[in-house]
Amino acid sequence: MTCRRPSPTAGALRDDLRLPSAVGLAVERPTIATGPPSGRPRAAGPGREHPGLEGRRLAHARERAAGRRCAARALAATGLPAPGPLPRRDDGAPAWPAGAVGSISHTPGLVAAAAASATALGAIGLDVETGILPVAAAGLVCDVDERDRWASCVGGGGALGATLAFSARESVFKALSAAGIALGAPRATTIRPTVRGFRVHRAGDSRPCDAAGLLDALDGRWTVRDGVVATAVLLLAADAIPGAGRAR
Ligand SMILES: CC(C)(COP(=O)(O)OP(=O)(O)OC[C@H]1O[C@@H](n2cnc3c(N)ncnc32)[C@H](O)[C@@H]1OP(=O)(O)O)[C@@H](O)C(=O)NCCC(=O)NCCS
Repeated sequence: MTCRRPSPTAGALRDDLRLPSAVGLAVERPTIATGPPSGRPRAAGPGREHPGLEGRRLAHARERAAGRRCAARALAATGLPAPGPLPRRDDGAPAWPAGAVGSISHTPGLVAAAAASATALGAIGLDVETGILPVAAAGLVCDVDERDRWASCVGGGGALGATLAFSARESVFKALSAAGIALGAPRATTIRPTVRGFRVHRAGDSRPCDAAGLLDALDGRWTVRDGVVATAVLLLAADAIPGAGRAR
């Protein structure tokens, strides 16, 4: 099952996600990759890749380039300089310029980036999804209670609940990882959704991340609109993490 073609504007996503004015948000809607063309598939072999796979690879490369453009526009929207395409850190996170924090997400048909000054926010995590997870995959992401809480908040089924749970966890992972903090195993945390937001809690006595108290400073937001599941999490206390305000 797939969401219909995504169409939310940056303004609509910004409103839904209640992003403060300190956060720049930019989106692009690249062409969605199609599957293999109908007809007989070409034989696979060295130098003869399946055209469908090649198409998806090209589409992914286009999405990643669009992510860099969105990042530059998001930085510009906050008045921060964007000195060329962002380099990539060893862990895959974008290396934001000194004094900036941000996050990039891409999914077929939609690319988005958010950025802010590191003096305003400690970190940002952003995730967009245009596909709905199979409900069975929820077990890999969270427990049934969490999935059902999401489903009940959005007024949808378990698959939509699972997709929201997954997206929220991706956002949290990105925000903390960008700040150099390990989230821990998915079951080490519980995410509790509210009408338009979510908070991250420790599950039992586990210690999900390196910095005690940091989870309380995470403020999550979510929306389901125009074929898109989107989540964002803001680390509200810029001084809660070591090195805040400097390049990370
Ligand atoms: C890295 C990861 C978060 C990417 O998420 P995704 O949904 O696959 O893909 P998205 O398009 O939303 O995000 C990709 C972007 O995330 C960013 N990203 C990658 N690694 C990152 C990291 N360690 N920290 C912050 N951002 C990161 C990059 O900007 C990347 O785009 P780019 O390669 O074009 O620069 C994901 O693949 C991953 O490793 N997740 C596992 C971590 C986890 O515990 N997740 C919880 C879910 S159960």
